[in-house]
Amino acid sequence: MEKSIDQIYQEALKAIETAAGPKDVRSASVRYLGRKGILTQFLRNISSLPVEERPTAGQKGNEIKKKLEKAFNEALVKSEASTKDLEDHIDVSLPGRPVSCGSLHPITQINQEICDIFLNMGFEIAEGPEVELDYYNFEALNFPKNHPARDMQDTFFISDKIVLRTHTSPLQIRTMEKQAPPVRIIMPGKVFRCDSDLTHTPMFHQVEGLLVDENVSFGDLKGTLTAFVHQMFDVQTSLRFRPSFFPFTEPSAEVDILCVICRGKGCRVCSQTGWLEILGSGMVHPALYENVGYDAIRYTGFAFGMGVERIAMLKYGIDDIRKFFENDMRFLSQF
Ligand code: DAH
Repeated sequence: MEKSIDQIYQEALKAIETAAGPKDVRSASVRYLGRKGILTQFLRNISSLPVEERPTAGQKGNEIKKKLEKAFNEALVKSEASTKDLEDHIDVSLPGRPVSCGSLHPITQINQEICDIFLNMGFEIAEGPEVELDYYNFEALNFPKNHPARDMQDTFFISDKIVLRTHTSPLQIRTMEKQAPPVRIIMPGKVFRCDSDLTHTPMFHQVEGLLVDENVSFGDLKGTLTAFVHQMFDVQTSLRFRPSFFPFTEPSAEVDILCVICRGKGCRVCSQTGWLEILGSGMVHPALYENVGYDAIRYTGFAFGMGVERIAMLKYGIDDIRKFFENDMRFLSQF
C-alpha cells in the first residue's frame, strides 16, 4: 500500500516535469486530483483497508495530496508565466506587414480633375442644396409648367414644391441671384433621377459651368470646352457641336468627342457613329437673366453641364456605371 502511494506521487511529479505548457499541467492535475483522479481514488479506497492500516495510509495519503496540490499550483503559475513571456516577445527579424493605403474613389478623382482644369482657367467653385425647390430646379430655368422633364418618371418629388435636384443647373440661378456679373463659376454636385440601368443610376454626379459677362460669344464657349477636352482626354481629341435643345440655353448644343476607343472608325462603344456625347451646353437664355434681375441686353453668357460618371467611363473604358457604386475593392484599387 505505501509503495503504491509513493508510486503515484512519483508519477505525478514526473507528469508535472514533462508538461509542455499550462494545458498539460491542468490536465495532469485533473488526472491525479480530480473527482475521479488516481489519488482521489486511492484515498477513497482507504476505508476498505484493514482497520489497523487505515490511520497511516490516511495520514500519508493526505500529506501527499497537499504536496501535489502545491506542486500543481506552482507548476501552473510557472508555465503560464513562461507562455506569456513568449507571447510578449517581439521577433524583430519578422518581415513587417504592409499597411495598405486607401485611395480616392475614381469619381472623386475625375471630379477633382474636371474642377482643376476650370479652376486653372479662372473659374470659381459654387455649391448648393441637393434637396431643391421646384422653382430653382425648373421654373427659374425656363422649364414650362408641363415640360416632360418635370414628369414623375424622372424626378424624385419630396412634395409639390420640393424635389431632389435632377441637375446642377439650379446653381446657375442661385449664384446669379447672389452676385452681379461678371460670373465665372463651376458647380460640382450630386444629382438624382428615377432611373437605373447599365448607364444610369438614381444618384450621379454633374459638373455645371457658367460664365456671364459683356461680349461673351458662342466662340468663347467653343474655345473653353475645346481647352477642357484637350486637357481631360488628349489634344488629338476632336469635338463636334451638335444643335440641341435645353429650356435654359438658346442656342443649345450637345458636345461630342471623337470616340476614344476607335478614333472615329466606328465601334460598339460609340454605336458605330465614331462620336461620343459628353455634355450639354449653350448660350444662357435671356429669360434666366430676367429671373435674376440681370440686364439681358448688356450681358451674355454660356453654360454647360456634364456627367462625371460618363466622363470617367469614357476615360477609363468602363462599360457599366453601377461598378462605381458597388464598392468592390478589386475594381476601386485599380485607380
Ligand atoms: N442640365 C442639363 C442636364 O442635366 C445639362 C446641361 C445642358 C447643362 C446644357 C447646361 C447646359 O448648363 O447649358 O441634362
